[in-house]
Amino acid sequence: MGFSSPVCVLFFFFGIKVYCQYETYQWDEDNYDQEPDDDYQTELQFRQNIEYGVPFHQYTLGCARECFCPTNFPSSMYCDNRKLKTIPNIPMHIQQLYLQFNEIEAITANSFINATHLKEINLSHNKIKSPKIDYGVFAKFSNLLQLHLEHNNLEEFPFPLPKSLERLHLGYNEISRLHTNAIDGLVNLTMLDLCYNHLQDSMLKGEILAKMEKLMQLNLCNNRLESMPPGLPSSLMYLSLENNSISSIPEKYFEKLPKLHALRMSHNKLQDIPYNIFNLSNLIELNVGHNKLKQAFYIPRNLEHLYLENNEIEKMNVTVMCPSIELLHHHHLTYLRVDQNKLKEPISSYIFFCFPHIHTIYYGEQRSLNGQMIQLKTQVYRRFQDDDDDDSDEHSEPEGAHEDHEQGGEGQFDPYYDEVQEWR
Ligand SMILES: *[C@@H]1O[C@H](CO)[C@@H](O)[C@H](O)[C@H]1NC(C)=O
Ligand SMILES: *[C@@H]1O[C@H](CO)[C@@H](O)[C@H](O)[C@H]1NC(C)=O
Ligand SMILES: *[C@@H]1O[C@H](CO)[C@@H](O)[C@H](O)[C@H]1NC(C)=O
Ligand SMILES: *[C@@H]1O[C@H](CO)[C@@H](O)[C@H](O)[C@H]1NC(C)=O
Ligand SMILES: *[C@@H]1O[C@H](CO)[C@@H](O)[C@H](O)[C@H]1NC(C)=O
Ligand SMILES: *[C@@H]1O[C@H](CO)[C@@H](O)[C@H](O)[C@H]1NC(C)=O
Repeated sequence: MGFSSPVCVLFFFFGIKVYCQYETYQWDEDNYDQEPDDDYQTELQFRQNIEYGVPFHQYTLGCARECFCPTNFPSSMYCDNRKLKTIPNIPMHIQQLYLQFNEIEAITANSFINATHLKEINLSHNKIKSPKIDYGVFAKFSNLLQLHLEHNNLEEFPFPLPKSLERLHLGYNEISRLHTNAIDGLVNLTMLDLCYNHLQDSMLKGEILAKMEKLMQLNLCNNRLESMPPGLPSSLMYLSLENNSISSIPEKYFEKLPKLHALRMSHNKLQDIPYNIFNLSNLIELNVGHNKLKQAFYIPRNLEHLYLENNEIEKMNVTVMCPSIELLHHHHLTYLRVDQNKLKEPISSYIFFCFPHIHTIYYGEQRSLNGQMIQLKTQVYRRFQDDDDDDSDEHSEPEGAHEDHEQGGEGQFDPYYDEVQEWR
């Protein structure tokens, strides 16, 4: 036993990490970066592993005076955090360009005249304004994969962009205009972040978004949308629409999005939604907290985490959530958050037959009709192992052995969501 402990600990640690990632379905940029992206990955590893590179590369190939080009990672140029007001001249061999946290207002074609090999440009946290971007300056980078323009003063979706682009970060700008052809040709885009902008329904008319046939993640949170964005590509797996003003979802809206894994729609105005609107076979995380929902709805089989806090629900009808129980294919729900609703009592215990993997129902405070707050106790069910994949079933305690381990509601019972708040 003794000698194997360190390995166990190590494995345990690794196991936890994997487990956490699995549980949270982290859909921020970092997660995507782990996907095979050969050229880019290789270079990153190269940078970490090789202690010495081609010596004095910067003297032979050049490095802008204002910047730093590491000898062991000669294709990168670091010019971040330097109070720069203009973009320095970019040498031909540079592939990764870091210009974040400066005071750059304009993107001038001249600075990039020799830079034809760029794969990644980070211009986040600057003062770039749309009219000061030279027309076509980005489009000529035919190898560009990633473009960071978040935290700037853009008023317009940049156009034209290179067709090679895979990840585009435009969050925290003031974008309220989109050229009709802006999205055309972005066929390789997998991630588009437009959170914290001034987007309105009228900008997303037609099927313009459908053209991004490989899009997996679309972030439209904190905008001014009043209805669901039309014509989303069927490749989509992660959709964020948090903090808009969306009040309804069309009947068959999600039929064209069979791959959807996670949907975040908290802080909207959802009220009456079709009871089976979220019947999506791949949906794992659903957040519709902070809306005006009055009723529960059908819970799809693979859903694991459901956030319903701050709604107007008076009663959770388990029959609606789970019309039939199939013993061999039970539902996968593990976590349910329902605080700040109008529940008068805990959900019928029938819910545990339908959702045998459930381990936490967070009730917290409930608003009663006369405006008072009622505290309902959080129900935490301990299992030997919380994994909800099918293999773990044989390790779980038998159904009858659930420990009814109740805890007060004051604690922080949002173990999954908090970790992924920062996913921009
Ligand atoms: C571009 O490359 C040419 C030839 O190497 C060089 O003379 C010129 O200064 C470079 N221009 C910029 C803006 O870096
Ligand atoms: C780009 O800059 C942002 C800071 O705004 C930083 O969070 C991000 O990691 C940078 N990206 C890369 C790939 O360096
Ligand atoms: C899109 O990606 C594919 C596969 O990675 C690549 O072969 C193709 O050249 C890319 N298209 C463009 C326009 O860069
Ligand atoms: C939602 O957006 C409004 C501005 O439109 C902002 O004031 C508010 O803080 C945002 N709420 C959340 C929860 O992000
Ligand atoms: C959910 O969708 C499946 C097919 O994807 C269908 O068989 C089932 O009847 C639907 N359930 C509800 C409650 O709409
Ligand atoms: C739950 O909903 C079903 C179907 O809408 C309905 O027949 C039943 O009366 C409801 N049960 C309760 C307790 O409200």
